[in-house]
This record gives sequence, structure tokens and C-alpha cells, in this order.
Amino acid sequence: MFLFPELEITEKKLRAVLVGCGEQATCLMHDAISYNGEIEVVGVCDMNKDRADFAAKRFGLDRSWQDLDEMLAKVEADAAFVIMVPKLAPILAKKCVEAGLHVYTEKPLGTELADIYALGEALEKTGKKLGVSFNKRFGLAYSGMKNAIDSDIFGKPGVFNARFIGGYRSSPTDLLRVGSCHFFDLARYMIGEIDEIFAYKFEQAPGQHIFSATAQFENGCVGSFTMGSTGSWACGYGMEAVEVRGDRNMVSADNGRDFMWQKPSRIMNLYKDGASAQNTQAVAEEAVPVEILRNNYSNPGKVTESTFFINGNFQAIRAFVKAILNGEEPPVGYNDGLMALKIALAIEKSVAEKRAVKISEIV
Ligand SMILES: NC(=O)c1ccc[n+]([C@@H]2O[C@H](COP(=O)([O-])OP(=O)(O)OC[C@H]3O[C@@H](n4cnc5c(N)ncnc54)[C@H](O)[C@@H]3O)[C@@H](O)[C@H]2O)c1
Repeated sequence: MFLFPELEITEKKLRAVLVGCGEQATCLMHDAISYNGEIEVVGVCDMNKDRADFAAKRFGLDRSWQDLDEMLAKVEADAAFVIMVPKLAPILAKKCVEAGLHVYTEKPLGTELADIYALGEALEKTGKKLGVSFNKRFGLAYSGMKNAIDSDIFGKPGVFNARFIGGYRSSPTDLLRVGSCHFFDLARYMIGEIDEIFAYKFEQAPGQHIFSATAQFENGCVGSFTMGSTGSWACGYGMEAVEVRGDRNMVSADNGRDFMWQKPSRIMNLYKDGASAQNTQAVAEEAVPVEILRNNYSNPGKVTESTFFINGNFQAIRAFVKAILNGEEPPVGYNDGLMALKIALAIEKSVAEKRAVKISEIV
């Protein structure tokens, strides 16, 4: 049945339980889940009863659960959405997998390698599938960047730069392993695996840090990450920016939204000897206009202008659900979550040991 092009209603339903009804769940993920016609929410759980009850009411359930083990024992489901404090997320995700459920978990997949490896063993043993919410991959600006990078005219990417300076973080570990993991994932998504990293750290205010890291990718591309917690969560400019440069052109996204693509200039071969004239600074070029995509902030009533769509949460969930219903691997999963943590750990190790660290050293 046709609703809007982006939305669909089907008979095929994934019965899902929601684990964790905190801020990210209540204010964003539950919206994205409720717009997905293939998900039927059959249980909600949070140790905070008020939050869980609010979610239960929202999804038309007559009760909520405060204990995950009890919900898993009593409720028949196919999948769990784990939107939990990061330290606990892989531990509760493992419980869900062992109870026979596929899992979609908020980023980060975990903050300790041991917890992620334990979850990996459970996935292997049960054959269940896991999706990780690296929603930025699906967001309009970053997916636009990826399309540009993959296009014929972009050429080989030469440099990847990411800056993310948000507000308060409880620790430098929280900043790197939890907050910054989106950008480590975007680096892998847009360019490929990182080979080596060298990083510095500055404690600009008590407990609040800025990390500056340079990286070499396996394909030779170079890059940098500036990740800090001395900014603000409320500023409209200057918080997050990603830029990739190809062959005489570049693509960028500001604050995860404003997308810009400066395509290559047109070379005017005015010289008699043609091609060789391109190898001089005196080559005549004609500018090509910049392509810009800016969201329409005054029209949030349109699905595609809603936060959960601009940021990619809706599309990320849809991709996971479709993969599960079709018996396929989710497009973003276990290895992506693991590699994002490894990059954070390589930065920590580089700062501690004052040397370049290979990602392969992080095991
Ligand atoms: N994709 C993104 O850009 C993005 C943005 C923000 C947050 N997140 C992620 O979302 C996750 C949740 O963040 P949040 O801000 O909503 O945190 P939060 O603290 O508001 O929510 C966590 C919830 O888990 C509940 N909880 C804790 N232990 C529990 C247990 N043992 N059993 C049941 N419930 C328990 C808490 O009561 C709380 O309601 C984090 O992993 C965070 O990294 C992702």
C-alpha cells in the first residue's frame, strides 16, 4: 500500500523489543522505528520505569519491563534494538543474542575489546545477525559525499579530514571511544582501512581534551582527526566537519548537514601543444560552480526533512530490518563496530607511547 515514497507498509513484520528508553531512544530512535512499517514493537525495557512506561504507551503496549532477563523470557521476538549506556551495550546485546534474537545496537558497539569479542563469539555460536547504528553513513550529507567520492570524476581520494568538537564528555575515553567513533567509521566507509596513526592530546580545560591525530590509510591516502570536547552541543557552526579531496576537486559536509562539492575546474587547452600545457601552473582553467545541498529547516513536516531522516537513523534501521527479513548480513555490522574501537584505541596508545601505532597492533 502506497503511503509516501519513503515509507511503506508491508505484511512482513519483524517483532522487536526495545532495550533502553533513554534520551537517544525516546527523542530519535523511537521516531525512526515507529515510521518503519516492517517493525512491530512487542516489548520495551528500561530499569527506569517512567521511561519504559512512556515508551510502552507510545507503542500501544499494556506494560513495560524493567528487567531484561525477564522480558527475554516472557516476550516472543525476532530482534532487539539496544540503545543503552555504551559500557553495558555489548553485554546486554550478548544476552539478547543468546536468547535467540538478532540485534541492532546504537554506536559504539562497545568500549572494551573483550566485551566486543565475547559478543562476537555469541553471534558465531548462535548464527544471529548484528547491525550497528553508524547512522551518519546513511545521512543525506555523508551519503552524498560517498556518492561523489565513488563517482568517475572524483578521482583517487588523497586526503580525509574530520573535525568533531562537541560539548562536555565524562572522560577522554568517552570522547574517543564513544563520541568520535562515527568519524572513524566514516573514514573507513569513505576511504578504506587505516594502516597507521600518530596522535597528540591537549587537556584544554580540566577533564576536557582535544586529540589531534594524523593517519595513513592502507591505500596511501593521508588524513587527520581533530576530536575534542571543549566546544558546545548547541552551536550551529563549527562542531563537526568532514572533507575529502580527490583529483582537483573536493567534497565536504558541515555539521553533518550542509553538503558541498567543488567539482574539477574545466581545463581550457588554449596552448598550441595541447596536453603538455596541463602540466604547468599557467594552465588556463574555468571554474565549475559548487554543488550545494542544504536541508530545508523550515519544512520539518516532510519525512525527508525530519531529523531522523537527515541524520540517517531511519535509513540505517530500514537497511538492518530489510537484511534480517531477507536473511542477509546487515550492511553495517560487527566488524565496523570493532574497527571503530580499534582506531580509538590506536589513538590512545599513540598518545601514551608517543609513537606511530599500526591498527594491526590493537588486538
Ligand atoms: N547515533 C548517534 O549519533 C547517537 C547519539 C546519541 C547517543 N547515541 C548512543 O545511544 C546510546 C544511549 O544514549 P542515551 O543518551 O540515550 O543514554 P541514556 O543514559 O539517556 O539512556 C540509557 C538508558 O539505559 C537505561 N539502563 C541502564 N542500565 C540498564 C539496564 N541494566 N537495564 C535496562 N535499562 C538500563 C537507563 O535507565 C537509561 O534510560 C549510547 O550508546 C550512545 O552512544 C548515539
